[in-house]
Amino acid sequence: MATTASSVRLSSRTSHFVLPKQWASMRKAEALERETGKRVIHFEKGDFQGEEFRPAPHIMEACAKAVADGHVRYVPGPGLPELRDAIAEEATKRGRPTEREEVLVTMGAKHALTQSLLTIVDQGDEVIFPNPGYPPDEFWITYAGGRVVYAPLVEPDFHFDLDSLRSLITPQTKMLILNSPQRPNGMVVGQLEEIAAICAEHDITVLTDEIFSHMVYAPAEHKTIAAVEGMADRSVLVDTFSKTYIMTGFRIGWCVASKELITTMDIFQQNSVTNVPAFVQMAAIAAITGPQDHVEATTASLQRKRDKTVEALNAMPGIDCPTPDGSFYVFPDIRGTGMTAQQFADYLIEDYQVGVVAGTAFGDRGEGHIRLTYAAPDDVLEEGLDRIKQAVENL
Ligand SMILES: Cc1ncc(COP(=O)(O)O)c(C=O)c1O
Repeated sequence: MATTASSVRLSSRTSHFVLPKQWASMRKAEALERETGKRVIHFEKGDFQGEEFRPAPHIMEACAKAVADGHVRYVPGPGLPELRDAIAEEATKRGRPTEREEVLVTMGAKHALTQSLLTIVDQGDEVIFPNPGYPPDEFWITYAGGRVVYAPLVEPDFHFDLDSLRSLITPQTKMLILNSPQRPNGMVVGQLEEIAAICAEHDITVLTDEIFSHMVYAPAEHKTIAAVEGMADRSVLVDTFSKTYIMTGFRIGWCVASKELITTMDIFQQNSVTNVPAFVQMAAIAAITGPQDHVEATTASLQRKRDKTVEALNAMPGIDCPTPDGSFYVFPDIRGTGMTAQQFADYLIEDYQVGVVAGTAFGDRGEGHIRLTYAAPDDVLEEGLDRIKQAVENL
């Protein structure tokens, strides 16, 4: 192909690059706000909003002090020893006995997922991925030359159907991705023993993304498949400081896996981002080793907002909203409105200035649903829910 002197010939590996649909929703909501000056209610973002949701003061102070003390240079790639030890203790508490060498501190959970997929998936490998699921995982499987094999989750609680899971396994199956509590529907994944047995039988590694591990509402409980017997070295446990400690912008997460895998990922990390900034790691040490009452308060507040959101949505004609076990999302079924997920999302943003994400952004099994983030101030939440009520009543 003829090129101009300044054109760049992109790698064929980028041929699947498209802007994730969720970002497209965020950009649409922001553009509308900018261009029309109308106040948009942002339920489409996967982040906290408002003053109520700030990192605990001792975390902010530890970060500021670390900067003031000059912790602004390169540090060891896999993470500061004190932080790796604290994470090892956290994973051990979850039932996966862990040593420092089995921990890698990463630039958020997303970076841990990226690095795991790029160090495990080979050309032609198959990775079983929940549908609906978390699109960045698909992105990197494809980049690595792997094949995404969709495991349709079963409504209304979006559980894995074990027979269907078994039927997807071939000699090329290398990995299974779990998300618990699940994105986008907030349900805790059950049947961990059974899923572990299937993985052991077929020599499958589990990538277990547990970013909402501390945002699970009683009586639901968070459990990790990494704690099931025989799964410690067969799993890659990924978590983050983003959600538990409201540190989304700090960009720090972690993963726990076999020493062999962590050593390989450490080389990947050293050759890419080098290390997570020391002052960010020091904030994370303060978060994980300091008082945890802030985490409990955040979880209690989110549970209250979840209940309010679910109740309000279920009172609306055409909407059916199961109660999620955790996370800060609800994933209501909107089929009763007669619209598709995208039509309903477009209607809400265009006519009522409420941003939500169409469920299809997470896979075709998300059709008929929207994802709404309720980690917002009460007045914003109430106004947004009120606008959605008006929208469905005016259909
Ligand atoms: C399922 C899932 N995994 C990973 C991430 C990324 O988390 P982090 O901010 O730690 O990169 C997100 C972000 O919302 C997520 O929903």
